[in-house]
Amino acid sequence: MDDLDALESELTAAVREAGDMAALEAARVGALGKKGRLTRAMRELGAMTADERRTVAPRLNRLKQHLNEAVAARKRELEAARLEARLAVERVDVTLPARPETEGRIHPVSQVTDELVAIFADMGFTVAEGPDIEDDFHNFTALNIPPEHPARQMHDTFYFPEKADGSRMLLRTHTSPVQIRYMKTARPPIRIIVPGRTYRCDSDQTHTPMFHQVEGLVIDETTHMGHLKGCLEEFARAFFEVDGLRMRFRPSHFPFTEPSAEVDIGCTHAGDELRIGEGDDWLEILGCGMVHPRVLECVGLDPERYQGFAFGVGIDRIAMLKYGIPDLRAFFDADLRWLRHYGFVPLDVPTLAGGLSQ
Ligand code: PHE
Repeated sequence: MDDLDALESELTAAVREAGDMAALEAARVGALGKKGRLTRAMRELGAMTADERRTVAPRLNRLKQHLNEAVAARKRELEAARLEARLAVERVDVTLPARPETEGRIHPVSQVTDELVAIFADMGFTVAEGPDIEDDFHNFTALNIPPEHPARQMHDTFYFPEKADGSRMLLRTHTSPVQIRYMKTARPPIRIIVPGRTYRCDSDQTHTPMFHQVEGLVIDETTHMGHLKGCLEEFARAFFEVDGLRMRFRPSHFPFTEPSAEVDIGCTHAGDELRIGEGDDWLEILGCGMVHPRVLECVGLDPERYQGFAFGVGIDRIAMLKYGIPDLRAFFDADLRWLRHYGFVPLDVPTLAGGLSQ
């Protein structure tokens, strides 16, 4: 019996005092391994008389159980200590200010896109995307612009070479095809914005062959023109960060909306300088309207039941306006001096609460 007591205290002490995982494993094997002391003691049971076995066997079993528990407990302790040590070494002071010497700058197009996403996300819109290379159906036909429609000429489309079946792929001339792609798969209510690249064969101070748009689309059973107006007013005031910004909705025409409007914001030209929100000049910033019933039909939505609005904003254009950038072509020159001047600090992420542009 004394032998067993001694065995118990020796084995548990070895486990308790193990200083690391390797020592713990050695202690475990020394007791419970194939040639461990406890394993050997159990093997000796066979040579005992039945009486002896009745008293010794339960003690050995209990000892085995205690040892297993002690090993598990010590293992947890060692792991916790290891984690503590690691946390102490890898400590990061998150209260340190960001280093001011960040070299890179965020391009105004990316900045404005982030600002738009922040504004519209706050109104419950999600972001959707579609391909830059489109087919004729999504870019035109499904948007109620049939072949021979004059709007096709106005879009100055870049076409790819003809395929065997005579069809030609094209670079999308606007983000509106994503309306079609989205409505074909999602059911209303729909509230999306679609930022992305668009292409038209055009180049001067205010046009580049590749430019950026953000499309907006809202479809449900009750949305009307008043919502369109409220939504775009909210957007323009938040974006230009001008309270009481003056806006004007001018009747216009787009094949995929009816009625359609173009939206101008109030501004003034003082010499070379353009001021937004003052004076009595107007600047056009976007096209919009109520989604045409034929577009809804085309994607299998019942126009008697569903309705909504769409809008398309030129991202580069509103970036130029907001940040006073005179020449659009410079956006795509990749000139580092220009980027340092007009770019944004990467850590100043635009949020409505924290300020869009600081
Ligand atoms: N797709 C139009 C354009 O590029 C803009 C627009 C979008 C107008 C949605 C109305 C509704 O000119």
